[in-house]
Amino acid sequence: MASRILRNLHVIISSHYFMVVTVSCLCCRSRKMSGFLRYILDFKGANNIITKINTFINRIPEKKPTENIKVGPDGKFGIPQAAIDSVNRNKIGLKGPLMTPVGKGHRSLNLALRKEFNLYANVRPCRSLEGYKTLYDQVDVVTIRENTEGEYSGIEHEIVEGVVQSIKLITEDASRRVAEFAFQYAKENNRQKVTAVHKANIMRMSDGLFLRCCREAAKKFPDIKFEEKYLDTVCLNMVQDPRLYDVLVMPNLYGDILSDMCAGLVGGLGLTPSGNIGLNGALFESVHGTAPDIAGQDKANPTALLLSAVMMLRYMGLNSHADIIESACFQTIKEAKYLTGDLGGSAKCSEFTDQICEKIAKS
Ligand SMILES: NC(=O)c1ccc[n+]([C@@H]2O[C@H](COP(=O)([O-])OP(=O)(O)OC[C@H]3O[C@@H](n4cnc5c(N)ncnc54)[C@H](O)[C@@H]3O)[C@@H](O)[C@H]2O)c1
Repeated sequence: MASRILRNLHVIISSHYFMVVTVSCLCCRSRKMSGFLRYILDFKGANNIITKINTFINRIPEKKPTENIKVGPDGKFGIPQAAIDSVNRNKIGLKGPLMTPVGKGHRSLNLALRKEFNLYANVRPCRSLEGYKTLYDQVDVVTIRENTEGEYSGIEHEIVEGVVQSIKLITEDASRRVAEFAFQYAKENNRQKVTAVHKANIMRMSDGLFLRCCREAAKKFPDIKFEEKYLDTVCLNMVQDPRLYDVLVMPNLYGDILSDMCAGLVGGLGLTPSGNIGLNGALFESVHGTAPDIAGQDKANPTALLLSAVMMLRYMGLNSHADIIESACFQTIKEAKYLTGDLGGSAKCSEFTDQICEKIAKS
């Protein structure tokens, strides 16, 4: 079963040069998983991601053809049909960050992907890491962000010169499905409480509708505690005592900001994974962007992307593989001998990677 799923695994890795690589095969024996891990981890920067992937794939005996698809800048700006077809076929993917040029009229490729695959729930777990000290040591929250509409609907226009309008679109269908997803997630992951985060006191119709859907969803899950909180209150509480929260569900923009804040509580963007769960598949990715200031210098912390892969394996029911990789990664951070710069160390991405791979090989 596991082997079948992994053979159908579909991986998208992209760089800030908009390369998208799709891979249609991985297999699940542990040595191969270690290869998979190295391939995920061993990125030194955008330019050589493609080379690393191809090197890795060529080591897999059962491989299917690799699809390398150039998205831009000399290709068309957009997600290529071949990549879309591939995700539709395989229903699951791991993607790297994509850059959207600012002020050039390009629509975000990330938004395009969310729309294309109806990725309606963005799940971002943030947990304190044992051995890595921050101001907060008992953070364990999961933000669940509505991913398809709200402030990110992209509906903007100029009414008259000097006056622009941006429309926040909230629908009952999208609100209900993300609210129900949050409760279902809480139930399946032994979580105790769901908090709906809103500003229904100000945006009475839009956030009011979102909140109503959360209340209705709560009735279907009587074993999960439900509470409603204003966004500003949650921000205040979160930096005072993050233990007050468990699972949080909210409209798009609030989720974007609050989840980055939660990432800051546990050590930053280099540590935080995410999953985009949808009607037509699921895409897993790090929360961070293309990190253009350090790309290509072997400095990036690969933990976020690696933990995104771990989330993906759990989503596929491959929990034992996920556990091995996750614990090797956490152990490496706890030992603190090879930490990357964002965690206060001086190790290269590749050195950190080697440590994790060694631990996996021994397990
Ligand atoms: N999901 C996505 O594809 C996604 C998400 C966010 C931003 N972006 C895009 O990425 C580009 C750059 O965005 P940005 O600079 O605002 O955010 P960013 O996340 O790329 O970088 C913010 C800061 O965090 C650091 N950082 C990020 N990832 C790191 C890692 N793995 N290890 C160590 N440090 C890390 C960077 O060096 C930088 O200082 C933009 O074009 C943006 O649109 C894409």
